[in-house]
Amino acid sequence: MALSTINPTTTSAWKALQNHFDTVNELDIKDLFSKNKNRADKFNVSWEDFYVDFSKNRITENTFKLLLDLAKEVKLKEAITSYYSGDIINKTENRAVLHTALRGKESDTVLVDGKNVMPEIFTVKAKMETFTNAIVKGYKKGYTDKIFTDVVNIGIGGSDLGPAMVVESLQFYKNNLNTHFVSNIDGDHVSEVLKKLNPETTLFVIVSKTFTTQETLTNATTIRKWFLKHAKQEDVAKHFVAVSTNTQKVKAFGINENNIFPMWNWVGGRFSLWSAVGLTISLAVGFDNFNKLLKGANAMDLHFKNEEFDNNIPVVLALISVWYNNFFGAESEAVIAYSQYLNQFATYLQQGVMESNGKSIDRNGNKVNYQTGTLIWGEPGTNSQHAFFQLIHQGTKLIPADFIGFAKSLHSNQDHQDKLISNYIAQTEALLNGKTEVEVLKELKTQNLSDAEIKELLPFKVFEGNKPTNSIFIKKLTPESLGKLIAMYEHKIFVQGIIWNIYSYDQFGVELGKQLASTILEDIQSGNFKNHDASTRNILEFFKKFR
Ligand code: F6P
Repeated sequence: MALSTINPTTTSAWKALQNHFDTVNELDIKDLFSKNKNRADKFNVSWEDFYVDFSKNRITENTFKLLLDLAKEVKLKEAITSYYSGDIINKTENRAVLHTALRGKESDTVLVDGKNVMPEIFTVKAKMETFTNAIVKGYKKGYTDKIFTDVVNIGIGGSDLGPAMVVESLQFYKNNLNTHFVSNIDGDHVSEVLKKLNPETTLFVIVSKTFTTQETLTNATTIRKWFLKHAKQEDVAKHFVAVSTNTQKVKAFGINENNIFPMWNWVGGRFSLWSAVGLTISLAVGFDNFNKLLKGANAMDLHFKNEEFDNNIPVVLALISVWYNNFFGAESEAVIAYSQYLNQFATYLQQGVMESNGKSIDRNGNKVNYQTGTLIWGEPGTNSQHAFFQLIHQGTKLIPADFIGFAKSLHSNQDHQDKLISNYIAQTEALLNGKTEVEVLKELKTQNLSDAEIKELLPFKVFEGNKPTNSIFIKKLTPESLGKLIAMYEHKIFVQGIIWNIYSYDQFGVELGKQLASTILEDIQSGNFKNHDASTRNILEFFKKFR
């Protein structure tokens, strides 16, 4: 079934939300708590090892009801059914969107063009498992018969960010293999990685869905040249494997057919870490842990598919985000994970959210007359508290924030953990409550200051508060809980795309830059700059002079 094409601003829920906004805009979340003692019990979802509190938001019971009405009116339920059943919901690329099938059960049936894709998925998973075990346990060795010590993932965008983030997040579960990621076409990136490596003990995983991406092919070619300075052509088969949909191009690159891990067009790059694109994850933490990551995601998939919307984590988070984006005019959202392991999480989410929902043409082909994709940014707590929290607390912009935390410390450093989590909680409370003039005055009076000094300082020390946060609290960082967390955001992206009536699974906006880069490369090589504007010509001349 095709997705609905409803302009959300024409729904009665949207109009009701617009009228309702004026009343809520005046409210202070603090007062909402004092008026309703059950607020925190009403606005939370407790699910498996997740506790999601969304009560520290500028919403009332009526706001929540109207947002749920909006979900209904844009036919979210029907869209979820289409999403899971392999309908062509990526219409502009004529593809299904089935990352959910990648973490499904072998007994599931998911049809694409009338064919069940589950057997193929499990064949590739079995190949990944065998390969991972052979490398990790040392059955497969390098060209000088030494066991592998290092793995280099060569890819960019979805072929890099997902695997890199998961490997970093799960480093507690890592085995003996060291992993490296080469993504940027900047030759200094690949050089810095290669200088640490021994070709005899390094495995290279080239990941590219299309196998046409300039960065990945350039890096892979440079790495193969470096490798061949030490080894022979026939050794390439022992050290290079590839993940792609484009088997022909992979073979043309010289990769042995047995070393190709296939993926499918119905997996979008930024949602592909669950496929063979996650091979580096499997190598780094073992196939069992990779499978647990998938299991966690599958649990979230079922929650999202089956749970009523008012108790459905991705739906609730998406609706709240729409509320701020479209009614309060908030432009960005911060994602603050109180775990150093998750230090690449916001970077990873940036592609997921912004490449998916950074669109301005609706599903009818018309320019939208409302805001779509939010800007995503963030760094782990507590570091970010000492960097940009000033702006969130006292700046002029409204920045809704997701606070992610884990109750258990993986290394059992209880003292650190208690301090970490007290910061997490303190920040959400401070953002909610702020600090009133009366409180500041009381504090300043204890500081031996004159009345004039107090008067002068007072306004700078006041915190307005009323800053919205969601607290996503999870028992422990495990492969399963990480799988759930990532899938939670994937589904949030989906819900927002449905509401905004856009196609979330294409990325034509990235392709223009790719085309232009190759034209300019030709001009740089020929030295002919006449086809460019004056500004670009000057820049090209500067480059020509100093390159
Ligand atoms: O950045 C655009 C993009 O197409 C992403 O969607 C994708 O993840 C990335 O390029 C890499 O593409 P590929 O896996 O085909 O090399």
